[in-house]
Amino acid sequence: MTYILGIESSCDETSASVIKNTRVLSNIIANQGVHSSYGGVVPELASRAHQQNIIPVVDVALKEANIQKNQLCAVAFTRGPGLLGSLLVGTSFTKSFALALNIPIIEVDHLRAHILSHFLDDDDRINTPTFPFLCLTVSGGHTQIVKVISPSEMDIIGTTIDDAAGETFDKAAKIMGLPYPGGPEIDKLANTGNPNAFSFPKPRITDLNYSFSGLKTSFLYFLRDNLKKDDDFIEKNKADLAASIQATIIEILLDKLKKAVTVTGINEIAIAGGVSANSGLRVNLRQIADDEGWKIFIPNIKYTTDNAAMIAIAGYFKYLEKDFSSQDVTPYSRSSF
Ligand code: KG4
Ligand code: ZN
Repeated sequence: MTYILGIESSCDETSASVIKNTRVLSNIIANQGVHSSYGGVVPELASRAHQQNIIPVVDVALKEANIQKNQLCAVAFTRGPGLLGSLLVGTSFTKSFALALNIPIIEVDHLRAHILSHFLDDDDRINTPTFPFLCLTVSGGHTQIVKVISPSEMDIIGTTIDDAAGETFDKAAKIMGLPYPGGPEIDKLANTGNPNAFSFPKPRITDLNYSFSGLKTSFLYFLRDNLKKDDDFIEKNKADLAASIQATIIEILLDKLKKAVTVTGINEIAIAGGVSANSGLRVNLRQIADDEGWKIFIPNIKYTTDNAAMIAIAGYFKYLEKDFSSQDVTPYSRSSF
């Protein structure tokens, strides 16, 4: 039996998880409420909160898993990408904790971990993707189409040239005066709105890359122009605005995914990352899968946003290869993969 402790601290969630082979025994996440009134994550506050949270979170993760720390085989941690001050807390904790237990440490790339969360074994998990498959990774900081050849071999075949999908949700929400993070707020409002009420331009890019900055700007100008005519424009049209911007983001995401299927000939598709929690994206993906004959993998909501179970499973695959890190490893803020 292989017991791995996973540690995630790349942004504003402090998380620890214990897995036994691929099986999740615990997945504890401490959210940092401190950022909501600032309309976004404040890096300095995030690292301070990680320092306060990390030991209690690990303690609870071990207790819930019902194991002793000396049963652990390795500690996997997010090396990057993310906020350096936040990553340093998880990395430093991992080094000293593993050193005291005399067990190896395993660095994990956060974006690869989002993808590998599909291999976590949980009560709800029915089946896992087979290699090679495509993964649309949509998070707060990244938007990628990845060809996943094996747990260790992944090719990014499309990426955003400016803003990420989650960032676009968050910025649209901020413009509308909704709290951070805006993605779930837009999702909720969109449920009662008309997705065809307003239309926004979609980028014209020929390859598999994305662009969202034009959409964000046109949404900003559209609201500014309408607010000049009616102070209550946003309030009166909240649900329709949310539904329309959400529908546009989803259309952009799925159009390129369709193209990626045509280009690669791979029709086994997974989605991952915070935005993969979006109910509209899930419904639309299911529809396309039915129409096009795709086999799709939609993660359990609890593994969409940042969590340490995904770090632990990515670590588990590396553990099997004895792919360990040395004690002088340092975090990176941008993805190296
Ligand atoms: O993967 P994640 O937790 O963190 C990063 O690695 O960035 O993703 C966070 C992003 C945020 O932008 C958040 O607004 C978005 O995921 N998000 C959603 C939903 N839930 C979270 N976006 C749209 N609909 C949702 N239901
Ligand atoms: Zn993430």
